[in-house]
Amino acid sequence: MTQQETERAMPTGVVLATEPMAHDRNRGWELLRQVGPVFQDDLGLYNVTTYEGVKFVQQNPKLFSSQRAFDDQGSVQQIPLAVDPPDHARYRRILDPVFAPREVNKMDVELRRQAAELVDAFAHRGHCDAMNDLAKLFPTQVFLTMFGLPLDDRDKCMEWVRTINAERVLGTDILSDSLVEASNALADYSRQFIRAKREAPGDDLLSRILAFEGEDEWTEDEMMGFVGSFINAGLDTVTSSLGFVFHYLATNPDVRRRVIEEPELVNPIIEEVLRLEPVGPRIPRVTTQDVEVCGYTIPANSMVLMCLGAANRDPERFPNPHEVDVEQANLGHLTFGGGIHRCLGSHLARREMRIVVEEFHRRIPEYELAPGAEPTIKWPAGVVTFETMPLVFPVPAAP
Ligand code: HEM
Repeated sequence: MTQQETERAMPTGVVLATEPMAHDRNRGWELLRQVGPVFQDDLGLYNVTTYEGVKFVQQNPKLFSSQRAFDDQGSVQQIPLAVDPPDHARYRRILDPVFAPREVNKMDVELRRQAAELVDAFAHRGHCDAMNDLAKLFPTQVFLTMFGLPLDDRDKCMEWVRTINAERVLGTDILSDSLVEASNALADYSRQFIRAKREAPGDDLLSRILAFEGEDEWTEDEMMGFVGSFINAGLDTVTSSLGFVFHYLATNPDVRRRVIEEPELVNPIIEEVLRLEPVGPRIPRVTTQDVEVCGYTIPANSMVLMCLGAANRDPERFPNPHEVDVEQANLGHLTFGGGIHRCLGSHLARREMRIVVEEFHRRIPEYELAPGAEPTIKWPAGVVTFETMPLVFPVPAAP
């Protein structure tokens, strides 16, 4: 880095709310990329937009703290999401094998059965809301299944999580009454089932973690932190990503027909949609000291946001940055993060998405957005998502 480069003035006061993200993320992220590799937004937060810049932040957890970034998210520390080194390594050593692909494989049959059941409930109707009838329901069912909890608890869990995510404001410590109420209700529910599983273990992930002994044994607070992390990181993320995949397939019928004819395309198409539509588009950290990123100095104790949507469209890395292009599916997008905090549930998330798309296409191969439907996202937001996605499709002939 030359002296001249380090002295460039950093763009400041960038107003994110005016970016055209709601309708056009290609243009929205491109505009932010063009502001510069690092800029300060109107809340004073530092945003990093290049692939290399984001990688640098991910790979230096001693300079960029997760613990301090997630401090404002309730009284229980989220494990391992909000843990810095060296403690973080202990949690991942225990958790990584539990979420490894071979463990995800074991759930395939049951998860497929549940996805099929959800699709069967509307396949005869000729229309559905891909978000409310499917994408919002399935990830919560997966969570309940993995934790050995009754599927009947699905709707109340979804409502708590919806309130918490809708009312959390990134970069502030504003806690509304309904957010506190939903957080407390979810915490009480979690504490109760952790205690129940400790007394009567079953054949589920939670019981497996509770069975660890010696230095691997977890306290109740640690278990609460892990449940919080799973709920925070593993439900709305899959829901929202599924929404983006269905939107892409509904509006690109030629690609969809190819995917149905060539099932091996399902994974790379999902991967490319994940790249273009990172559902957690700005991942936070707090600097532990003054630090230089892409030639700009960010002071100690600053909130830094890794703009995954911009970095995933960096033309230095992705030759066709704004298009779904299966040739790019292995180029290493950043939607699942990277470094020590790389998504623990990425194998599970990919499997969930594949199962849902395959079971949907098995029953409903032809579909499109309902006339007049124009799904949009709310922006800026911690997790970006379509709230509804009305689809129409031919009713299958009676047997
Ligand atoms: C498409 C869906 C998903 C996306 C896009 C996603 C994205 C991410 C990202 C970007 C991170 C890194 C956060 C950071 O660096 O601060 C992360 C971490 C994490 N994710 Fe996911 N995630 C998804 C699904 C899941 C699922 C299904 C689970 C369920 C277990 C999960 C559990 C976690 C956990 C526990 C962490 C924290 C890991 C750590 O701090 O070591 N995620 N995820």
